[in-house]
Amino acid sequence: MGYAASMQTYPTRDALMRAAADELEAALRAGIAARGRGAVALSGGSTPEPAYAALAARDLDWTKVTFALVDERCVPPSDPGSNEGMLRRALAPALAKGAALLPMWSDGSPAAAAAAADATHAGLHFDAALLGMGGDAHTASWFPGSPQLAAALDPANPRTVMATEAAQAAAAAQRLTLTFAAVARANRLLLLITGEEKRARLEAARGEPVAEAPIGAVLRGCGDKLSILWAA
Ligand code: 6PG
Repeated sequence: MGYAASMQTYPTRDALMRAAADELEAALRAGIAARGRGAVALSGGSTPEPAYAALAARDLDWTKVTFALVDERCVPPSDPGSNEGMLRRALAPALAKGAALLPMWSDGSPAAAAAAADATHAGLHFDAALLGMGGDAHTASWFPGSPQLAAALDPANPRTVMATEAAQAAAAAQRLTLTFAAVARANRLLLLITGEEKRARLEAARGEPVAEAPIGAVLRGCGDKLSILWAA
């Protein structure tokens, strides 16, 4: 596969977040039109929350929408580091109107939580997945140096959700994540990044092994359906 389509740049972060909400809304509308339901997988972290709040304010039939997570820290939703907790806050208006949110975390060992989430996420069709990127060129919870990275990036991995671990992971070293195989099945991929540092890191990742820059797996394997959205 070729590299990702060229980056779409926006004059402000507000414009960037509105554009991401537009893309997610369009994907959900397409899913509802095609299958009667739309589903998107959303990343956590600090960047995308305004995009999710903008999306939740849109006029959709939320009873036909399912939100899932791209990845999760192994902490309960009440924990400040929980991606589910962040999504529940940002998407509250849509959830109040009937949208479903599929948790990824459950109490118990990471392995047990991953097995439970693998069962609940198997067969879920994503109209779009929104990815972020860390300064170490990780995406989802596919971290450089993680013992589970090769399995997470294996296109033949039959799992939809697996447990990963990385000492440098924000908020929790123990993570749950969609596999690359699961992310690559989404109809559309959106990579939402901000700042000059991440833009430079992304450009550098194009020439690095995926073990050092896991975002490269998406750039190389999903370039035909990937949109990169960036603002300074
Ligand atoms: C997470 C995210 C992760 C995120 C990147 C970027 O759980 O941390 O899902 O993959 O997208 O770490 O995070 P920021 O947006 O906070 O830079």
